[in-house]
Amino acid sequence: MVKMKNIVRSLFFTRDASDDELRRLIDSEHFDPLFERANEVRHLHFGDDVYLRGLIEFSNYCKNDCFYCGLRASNRSAVRYRLTHDEILQCCDEGYRLGFRTFVLQSGEDPSFKDEDICQIVHSIKTKYPDCAVTLSIGEKSYNSYLAYFQAGADRYLLRHETASDEHYRSLHPQNMDPVHRKECLRNLKKIGYQVGSGFMVGTPGQTLDNLVQDLRFLQELEPHMIGIGPFIPHGETPFAHEAQGSLQRTLNLVAILRLMFPQALIPATTALGTIDPRGRELGLQAGANVVMPNLSPVRVRKLYTPYENKICTGEEAAQCRRCLERRLESVGLHSVVSRGDYPGVRR
Ligand code: 5AD
Ligand code: FES
Repeated sequence: MVKMKNIVRSLFFTRDASDDELRRLIDSEHFDPLFERANEVRHLHFGDDVYLRGLIEFSNYCKNDCFYCGLRASNRSAVRYRLTHDEILQCCDEGYRLGFRTFVLQSGEDPSFKDEDICQIVHSIKTKYPDCAVTLSIGEKSYNSYLAYFQAGADRYLLRHETASDEHYRSLHPQNMDPVHRKECLRNLKKIGYQVGSGFMVGTPGQTLDNLVQDLRFLQELEPHMIGIGPFIPHGETPFAHEAQGSLQRTLNLVAILRLMFPQALIPATTALGTIDPRGRELGLQAGANVVMPNLSPVRVRKLYTPYENKICTGEEAAQCRRCLERRLESVGLHSVVSRGDYPGVRR
C-alpha cells in the first residue's frame, strides 16, 4: 500500500490523487505532513496574508426548507428580519472604515428582494466604493438574474453545491430542490464571468467518504475561485436536531486537501469551524485557509441569522470582531491585508 506521506507528496506535485488515496487522507487522524505541505503551498502563493471579507447578512427570510438549516421556511420560531437599502450601506460605511475591501451580501432565498432591488443595492455600493468588490450569496436564480446583478457591478458569487452526490443531496433537501439545477447555477455564474465560490458541509447526516470524494471531483471539474467548507452543526428547530455534528479533524483534513488541489483558491476559515472549536478558525488557517469573513451586520440582528446553533461573534460590534480576529491571526503568524483579494490574475 502507498505510504500516506507519498500520497501527500504526489498530491502536492500533481494536484491529484486516486479516489482511494483521497479517502485515506480525508479519514486520517491528524497527519502532520498533510498540514505542513498545505501551509507551505498557502505561503508560496499568498505569503502571510489573509484576506478579509465583511459579511452582511441582510435578510434571514428563506423560501427553502433544507433539512439542516435553521433559517428554513418551516422554522416558525425563527424571528425574521430584513435590512433596508440604507442599513446595508451603513454596514459598508463602517466596514470600509475598518479596512474591508470586499462586502459579501448574504441572505436566505428571500423573494421580496426583486432583481431590481439587488441591482440597486449592488450599484450603490459600487458607486460609493469603486475600489471594493461586491460578493453576492443569495441562492439559486435564473441566468438572466445572475447576468443583471453582474451588469450592476457584482464581482463574485458564493453558492455552495452542499454535496455533489445527487442521492445525498436529496436526503438533505425537500423534493422541490434539484441538485442538477444547483450545479447548473454554478456553471451559469462562471459563464457570466463571476469569480465563483462553491463548497460543501462536512459530516451531514448519512454522508460517506465517497460522497466527500465526489465533492472534490465536482470541484475539480468546476474550478471555482473560492471554496468554503464547514462542519455540519445541528439546529434544534430542524429535522436534524438530534444528529451528530461534523468532525473538526475531517474538516481540517479537507481544508488541507483543498489547498493542495487548488493552490491559488481563496479558502475561508469559516465561522462554523470557529463554532465547533474555540480555535477552529486558527486551525483552519494553519491547514491552508487564507480568508476570514467577520460579520458586519448590525448587532441587533446577529443572533437572528442562525443556520446552526451557538454561532460565534453574534454579540460583538464589527470593530471588536475585527480586532479580535487580528489577534487570532497574529497568534498563528499571519496578518490581514487591506485589499480586494481577487483570485490571482482575475479581475475585470
Ligand atoms: N450547519 C453547518 N452549516 C450550515 N449551513 C446551513 N445550515 C448549516 C448547519 N446546520 C451552511 C450551508 C450554506 C451556508 C450559508 O451555511 O452550507 O450554504
Ligand atoms: Fe468575532 Fe472574535 S472574531 S468576536
